[in-house]
Amino acid sequence: MDFDLTDEQRLIRETARDFTDKEIVPRARENDRNHHFDTELVGRIAAQGYLGAIIPREYGGAGLDYVTYGLIVEEVGRGDSAMRTVVSVQTSLVCSSILRWGTEEQKQRYLPRLCSGEWLGCFGLTEPDTGSDAANQKTRARKTDGGWVLNGSKMWISMGNHARVALVFAQTDPELRHKGVACFLVDTDQPGYQPQTIEGKMGLHGSDTASISLDDVEVSEDQMLGEVGDGFKIAMTALDSGRYSVAAGCVGICQGCVDESVRYSKERQQFGRPIASFQLVQAMIADMVVDTEASRMLVWRAGFLKDAGRPNTTETSIAKLYATEAAVKCANTAIQVHGGAGYVDDHPVERYFRDVRVTTLYEGTSQIQKLIIGRAATGINALVPA
Ligand code: CAA
Repeated sequence: MDFDLTDEQRLIRETARDFTDKEIVPRARENDRNHHFDTELVGRIAAQGYLGAIIPREYGGAGLDYVTYGLIVEEVGRGDSAMRTVVSVQTSLVCSSILRWGTEEQKQRYLPRLCSGEWLGCFGLTEPDTGSDAANQKTRARKTDGGWVLNGSKMWISMGNHARVALVFAQTDPELRHKGVACFLVDTDQPGYQPQTIEGKMGLHGSDTASISLDDVEVSEDQMLGEVGDGFKIAMTALDSGRYSVAAGCVGICQGCVDESVRYSKERQQFGRPIASFQLVQAMIADMVVDTEASRMLVWRAGFLKDAGRPNTTETSIAKLYATEAAVKCANTAIQVHGGAGYVDDHPVERYFRDVRVTTLYEGTSQIQKLIIGRAATGINALVPA
């Protein structure tokens, strides 16, 4: 077993670390306070090649492997989860789906524009009444002479307001359940596509989150990704990549909690000495270190399996479950180390605490990850009545 990164991977990680510290970290608090989706910063992230890291160079990507992609996402996630969400959605959910399921023409049309950041993409799977039960799509696709007409609504869509292309999942025949789902590449300037910002989020204030209504949106035949009936598998394979990316971002949050807590506890004096010298503070830091390292190893293993082309759905769910829950714990513990100072946004741990909470919800809740892991362990699908 080899835990060493290659020289190239180390260099890319260092570059991502520097970039995050110079470009992302200094803007994170103001973007969060102002609820500002920083498109200018998204452009800089794209210029680094981080929006198409795992996409081959011939389509405008950086042609990197999954482990290296995970290292980049970890650093961006340490800096700002709102920006990490952009990287995850654009790269893992949108680009990787087009790469895997698209025709040559679709790849040529969309991937270079998405990798360069000229266009943003969004992933329209979740609906107001369809969350964990993703096969139960209420959005309808009706066949016409020249293509399809889409009607329905989508919910919790990251970048729904800013996307130029939306992957929209829709049911072509409800009787077929998941075998009737199709996926469409919808140009968002088409009549009938109407996004609306979702207000009042607990965190990710620097991220754009929208609901989308689809009212007689006409799409041509060549805007379908894959075939009728491929839609559900497209969503699941996208989520295999997306969950990996969320997990890697959470390793970044864990690491950020450790770094901030070590720094603060060495500066902060109580009872005449730094609080880092107290055993109970060290115990909190040790718990965070262990959670960080364990999460990172699980992410690296999932990345290794992806790069080897081996099945990895269960291992990805294990990494996602563990790293997101660990990051929630670390953010809470880091605030405890900071005391009152952790309750305001002078320190990033306050933002970590709010931003991390969604990671055990989106791209499959912790409970869904447990059902995937439990099914692999027992061979029994808990979602099918006995
Ligand atoms: N890769 C390829 N195929 C897969 C697959 C995978 N990972 N997982 C399942 N499939 C295939 C199965 O093999 C099966 O194929 P056949 O029909 O050929 O047999 C088919 O898909 C149906 O599979 P299941 O029976 O497992 O389907 P299910 O209805 O029981 O659902 C589930 C399983 C795991 C619960 C799934 O519905 C799920 O993951 N739900 C959670 C949805 C989710 O994560 N939503 C997040 C939204 S995206 C988001 O948050 C984005 C954002 O903007 C940040």
